Amino acid sequence: MNYKKTIPVLMAVSFICVMCSCVSNRIENAEVRMSEFIDSLMREMTVEEKLGQLNLVTGGDMVTGHVMEVELENLIRRQEIGGVFNVKGADKILALQKVAVEETKHGIPLLVGADIIHGYETVFPIPLALSCSFDTVAIERMARISAIEASASGINWTYSPMVDICRDPRWGRIAEGNGEDPYLGSILAPAYVRGYQGKNMSGKNEIMSCVKHFALYGASEAGRDYNVVDMSRQRMFNEYFLPYKAAIQAGAGSVMTSFNLIDGIPAAANKWLMTDVLRKLWGFDGLLVTDYDVISEMSKLGYAPLKEASVKALEAGTDMDMVSAGYFTTLAQSLKNGDVTENMIDNACRNVLKAKYRLGLFKDPYKYCDTTDVKHKVFTPEHRSAARKIATETFVLLKNKKELLPLSTNGKIALIGPMADAANNMCGMWSMTCSPSKHISLYDAMRDAVGEKAQILYSKGCNIYRDEDMENLANGIRPIARGDDQRLIADALRAASGADVIVAALGESAEMSGESASRADLDLPDVQKELLKALVATGKPVVLLLFTGRPLTLTWEDANVDAILNVWFGGSEAANAICDVLFGKESPSGKLTVTFPRSVGQIPLYYNHVNTSRPDSDPAAFNRYQSNYIDERNEPLYPFGYGLNYTTFAYGDLQLDTDTLTRDGKITASVKITNTGKRKGTEIVQLYSRDTFASLARPVKELKGFHRITLKPGESKVVTFEITSAMLGFYNNELEYVCEPGEFEIMVGPDSEKLSVKKFFYEEAFE
Ligand code: NOJ
Repeated sequence: MNYKKTIPVLMAVSFICVMCSCVSNRIENAEVRMSEFIDSLMREMTVEEKLGQLNLVTGGDMVTGHVMEVELENLIRRQEIGGVFNVKGADKILALQKVAVEETKHGIPLLVGADIIHGYETVFPIPLALSCSFDTVAIERMARISAIEASASGINWTYSPMVDICRDPRWGRIAEGNGEDPYLGSILAPAYVRGYQGKNMSGKNEIMSCVKHFALYGASEAGRDYNVVDMSRQRMFNEYFLPYKAAIQAGAGSVMTSFNLIDGIPAAANKWLMTDVLRKLWGFDGLLVTDYDVISEMSKLGYAPLKEASVKALEAGTDMDMVSAGYFTTLAQSLKNGDVTENMIDNACRNVLKAKYRLGLFKDPYKYCDTTDVKHKVFTPEHRSAARKIATETFVLLKNKKELLPLSTNGKIALIGPMADAANNMCGMWSMTCSPSKHISLYDAMRDAVGEKAQILYSKGCNIYRDEDMENLANGIRPIARGDDQRLIADALRAASGADVIVAALGESAEMSGESASRADLDLPDVQKELLKALVATGKPVVLLLFTGRPLTLTWEDANVDAILNVWFGGSEAANAICDVLFGKESPSGKLTVTFPRSVGQIPLYYNHVNTSRPDSDPAAFNRYQSNYIDERNEPLYPFGYGLNYTTFAYGDLQLDTDTLTRDGKITASVKITNTGKRKGTEIVQLYSRDTFASLARPVKELKGFHRITLKPGESKVVTFEITSAMLGFYNNELEYVCEPGEFEIMVGPDSEKLSVKKFFYEEAFE
């Protein structure tokens, strides 16, 4: 059967449906229509054709894993694949889609995936940076624009959002997520889903999101990519699961399994995780796809060779096999042997077809392939200006001695460092779909920003790393021309000697974070630190403009450099956005969503830890028989939630309207915030709570709410938070969500350390 013959019937049914006023009925009807459509299509499909739908291959235009040689058109013609990813260009995708629709028995269109992580051609800041804005509206807008651009380029499925909580900055993929906090992660994840999928992912520019990497990938031991994860279920439910669950509740159409083990079983083969938790407990009814080659790699994990691994993954509830071809090449035989049932294959195939149906591909398989769209929908002035504005919200001002920043646009500014004229690095990791040649360098942006008023004395200063091989490794697909370090430093010092202020553009290059970019040393790379020391030694004021995809250890920099502005990787408009903040058109307002340690030895270091039985009583000294280090303090260099502004904010007294909370009641916490500085600014006011005693030891504080407020100089605003028992509970060892009676603390402040505290009692237990 070719499904196109059923379309008139579907349209007739749709017309009847329009008459129905009740929304839930409409949704139910739509689900029934979808089931009927898919059932009738599947009745006509052979087992081999169904297995073809479970097979996802890479086209190789973007490289995101080991490269495979595939002849896409033939695979499609032979009905051996249900989707492709890493194919670039609407024309190319249209040609493939035509083969699928016009040259196969059932004409089933393809899913076309790509890693659109923080923009397509218009690139936004990396997700870790975006999270520092605490701005759900900005994130939703970023995802919407990404979907508009990607869909205009033939893509209908993005492998985003990545919502893995991560507390180990050695892991390069920390750059791709929302940082260390479960609550914040669960607020930001739905914003991505809403942005990508729009109303219901069936519109012309709406694409399917894919929540990844389910689950716990961010807890890879030692921050080494693809490493082992081992975690209590109580921690999974109270911390790491929250963002995945929130994204699924927001309607994410698909989920990607992680590479790691969960309870000793590879995630994609873990039936408890994929069926009991994901599908039954959380009600997910979308498409579950593996990560790259996961099924085949289960043999290296010491779990099972390809054939058995495919059986285990199917049994667990995993629908689609990315790259390993285990499902396609082995499941027919396993069916004959009785190791799997046709019903299991049907369930997986149904989920693939459902995704295609929900995207509207059966109605219009070419809806994403209007090849004229690219010209007027991609990299538009409107998208670029949104990216520029959003980037300014993500920068975090870490230090600003004597209000060195913002800089005046007069005088002589020495712009020094390997990131100063590296336009191809501004976009950051996971930006393979963009054209860096269209991006502007910081040097050019700075000259535009100051015009004739100031002189920019540019000097490269040094390479990213002293060692060329190391630099080549670090820079990957975004090379930066090298020079001789000794000569570069000497040139830089000459430029600096004639300047009023030095801006040092240093840090990581774009590809030093992201997948397969773990680091054991988190200092500024060797020769860059040497350059920075030489610049500071000139005695001139120095601004460190820090490019990075992760927290770095900046203890020396914090002690010796006058100002530090962390600009992460701000995307295609980063350079202009940096100038907007550097010269005071915009004030920085980002707050860290991940802790910056003093040294690597402190990792994992995160604010919402559980106390020890012997907490440290005096951070300034070593205390024997207390939980501390001989050679390092316990506290971070910069805590979660920290970030300065060009203005200052005063917090009034924290007030609670009552000091007892009942099961169905609420407490209102309020605090008056005043802009006490001379500039307009945005503050992110944070609410934390602590359950003082509980049947499971609870964290010393946990984020429970935040407000972004913008105040003019002298202006005040009373910020209020509502506290309910539902916000305060936790999963106990039976994995029941409970809120136990007793004392709680409520804390409000500008970061996770500078907090005012009030206590209250929760009176009633509920389960
Ligand atoms: C591997 C990565 O882990 C995943 O995040 C990505 O979506 C896939 N490759 C596809 O490129």
